Amino acid sequence: MLEKLYSMNGKVCAVTGGSSGLGSYMAQGFLEAGATRVYITARSQDKLEAKAEELSALADGECIAISGDLSSIKGIQALTNELKENEKHIDVLVNNAGIGTGGLFADMQPEVWDMTMDLNLRSPVFLTQALLDLLKAKATYEDPARVIFTSSVAASENNTQVMAYSTSKSAIEKMTPLLALALCDDHILVNTIAPGAFYSEMTRNTWEDPDRLQSLIERIPAHRFGELEDIAGVAVMLCSRAGSYFTGEVLNLDGGHRLTFG
Ligand SMILES: NC(=O)c1ccc[n+]([C@@H]2O[C@H](COP(=O)([O-])OP(=O)(O)OC[C@H]3O[C@@H](n4cnc5c(N)ncnc54)[C@H](OP(=O)(O)O)[C@@H]3O)[C@@H](O)[C@H]2O)c1
Repeated sequence: MLEKLYSMNGKVCAVTGGSSGLGSYMAQGFLEAGATRVYITARSQDKLEAKAEELSALADGECIAISGDLSSIKGIQALTNELKENEKHIDVLVNNAGIGTGGLFADMQPEVWDMTMDLNLRSPVFLTQALLDLLKAKATYEDPARVIFTSSVAASENNTQVMAYSTSKSAIEKMTPLLALALCDDHILVNTIAPGAFYSEMTRNTWEDPDRLQSLIERIPAHRFGELEDIAGVAVMLCSRAGSYFTGEVLNLDGGHRLTFG
């Protein structure tokens, strides 16, 4: 039974921000669980193609790169068009591309606020909307399609240094049950993963600095950063038979990090 529970055999998936970090970990998990095709997207084409080649070599399924900027509606439409040219349906959409912004409130620039909201909040909403036909195409009660959003432990934290980022991620969490209800009759399950500190490009400045790494690890109850297996495992669970009774849920994948906020 276990093999069937966590199998993604035959699935077609799309993972935004798949060229590095969490997106690449989830894409790898899907391929190793048997997905037939996993599309990964990001802006930098060279990096994206190198990652697609690397991941394709790990399993029988194919990892395919589609480059583009998802912070604009035009970029969302371009990705949608390309996916529609290639596929008649999609089983899994992971809205993961995101930007981490921060700084003092007094210095906050409207451009930075907009950039954060455009990529972290508007893009996942309207990419999901644009791909609804593909998500609905093969979805059934027995085998629903899945949409996953990537929030952050920052949504649970009152850190004034990351106001725009936290607000964008909180909004994703608020939207999760709303979208789950809106899409339930289309047999689409909607859930959010809220990661804590993971190794990725976004957190490089922290984990490359031994003092910052040590002080953060001391604060996290699990006493370590999150790794590939941590998020790949949860993403595969949510997108396989094992997770098919979850919808409208936010899964805090943070080693207990949020419990330490005062
Ligand atoms: N790492 C953590 O500890 C952590 C914790 C909580 C939440 N998160 C969330 O996890 C998600 C992934 O972050 P990560 O940590 O894995 O960071 P990462 O390694 O920097 O990956 C970000 C990905 O998004 C892509 N991307 C960035 N801007 C884009 C744009 N405008 N259009 C399309 N793609 C874009 C990047 O590629 P290009 O730059 O080439 O476009 C890359 O593939 C984000 O939503 C982040 O907020 C991360």
